[in-house]
Amino acid sequence: MTKTMSSAVTESQADIYQQARDQLSSIEDFIRFSASQFHQADLYFGHGTDNAWDEAVAIVLQMLDLPNDYPATMLGATLLDDEKAHLVSAIKERVEHRKPLAYITNKAYYCGLEFYIDERVLVPRSPIAELIQNDFYPWLEADNPRILDLCCGSGCIGMATAAYIEDAEVVVSDISEEALTVAEINNERLGLYPKVQIVQSDLFENLQGEQFDLIVSNPPYVDAEDLAEMPHEYQHEPEIGLGSGVDGLDLTRKILQQAANHLTEQGCLIVEVGNSWPALEEAFPLIEFTWLEFEHGGDGVFLLTKQQLIEAFN
Ligand SMILES: C[S@@+](CC[C@H](N)C(=O)[O-])C[C@H]1O[C@@H](n2cnc3c(N)ncnc32)[C@H](O)[C@@H]1O
Repeated sequence: MTKTMSSAVTESQADIYQQARDQLSSIEDFIRFSASQFHQADLYFGHGTDNAWDEAVAIVLQMLDLPNDYPATMLGATLLDDEKAHLVSAIKERVEHRKPLAYITNKAYYCGLEFYIDERVLVPRSPIAELIQNDFYPWLEADNPRILDLCCGSGCIGMATAAYIEDAEVVVSDISEEALTVAEINNERLGLYPKVQIVQSDLFENLQGEQFDLIVSNPPYVDAEDLAEMPHEYQHEPEIGLGSGVDGLDLTRKILQQAANHLTEQGCLIVEVGNSWPALEEAFPLIEFTWLEFEHGGDGVFLLTKQQLIEAFN
């Protein structure tokens, strides 16, 4: 009987995984094997690493519960059969299902903190991390600032802010109950409660009467065209976390209209809109957005003061 091309490919791939279990022995063997598999499968890297080698190092160390700074002198350490089986199944998951690494290891690092991540939330990757690590200098002047992370997902932005800014009081909110379950896990693991409060809310709906010195948000902002063309990896992420109407700005428009009511006099709003920034400039030609600059990459993050918002929307 003649085999079809696809069944032959699947069989030979299965054979390679079996050979890996039988013939590879060390951590460095598995890093090399993963990198080759990732290259050959032409995976997309956009969820924490940007190349096959870094992703290979990350998958092997994370699956073995080893730290990111695991010493190079120990890479020759021999693995147990169970550890090899565990690694092969993770590599298969990454290659065959194109699952982002964080959904396989349930870990992602943001601002140097480890977050629990699963498919109920987006994988943390916002360039806002750099602003957090600089204490939002020079934009956040208040003592004991109240900060809102709107559309918080896993809670990464708000929780990292709470960890970095000692005297801050932080509220993180999201419309998705599932996302907030993950945020609760992170709040507990990072030991941030009661410094970080979690509120379920459709934007500001359940935050009436609340005011903040800083509102920071990474809302969904992918436009319909980009959404249709995103690599398969993104299909594992919750759709509610990515798309926001034809031009990607449905949610951002609402945030702009409502934010001033929730800012203190010196308060400001920081929002990430990524590739949708030209559409935002075009939609609001009279607003002078301050586009923040990042040393370590990223763009499409604007800042507006309360006064600018009042002038534009009242
Ligand atoms: C791009 S994700 C960002 C998550 C997180 N801030 C991060 O940087 O990883 C956007 C989040 O907005 C939430 N969201 C979507 N619509 C919302 C709404 N109307 N009100 C509040 N949150 C909303 C989604 O559930 C998702 O968690």
